[in-house]
Amino acid sequence: MNKGKKILFITIISFLVGSFFSMALAADAFTSDGNDRKGKYVFRKNCRSCHDGSKAVALSPNSKTQAQWQRAFEKYERLKCVEEWKKNSQSDLNDVYTYLYNHGYDSPQPATCQ
Ligand code: HEC
Repeated sequence: MNKGKKILFITIISFLVGSFFSMALAADAFTSDGNDRKGKYVFRKNCRSCHDGSKAVALSPNSKTQAQWQRAFEKYERLKCVEEWKKNSQSDLNDVYTYLYNHGYDSPQPATCQ
């Protein structure tokens, strides 16, 4: 391989490795453009069962500000109920995030979870 080809080869490999890692990171980040209605359904079915004040602290969208929801979801691996989260698909969790975030305490449409 001559020098020119070597540089081209290294450039292509770094590009591929770089895009692989940014995709892996993006897959982990929650966004608020999921399905709000589905998120409400999943939350009531898979989270409210405990978070209605019976087995865990009662949680509604307006229990936290948007920034607090953001932080909770960024660090959900540290929560006591992480095993419960893992029973949901990444896409379902993103819908739950969308629902909670879009109706957080300081959102335009705060909501309780009745
Ligand atoms: C089996 C019961 C159970 C389920 C189901 C469950 N959790 Fe939890 N969760 C807990 C317990 C226990 C804690 C620790 C705090 C407490 O005792 O309330 C907790 C803590 C949390 C906290 C931190 C509490 C706070 O006020 O900061 C958040 C946020 C949370 N859970 C979100 C969720 C979400 C979202 C789901 C659904 C994907 C979920 N949980 C499902 C039991 C559960």
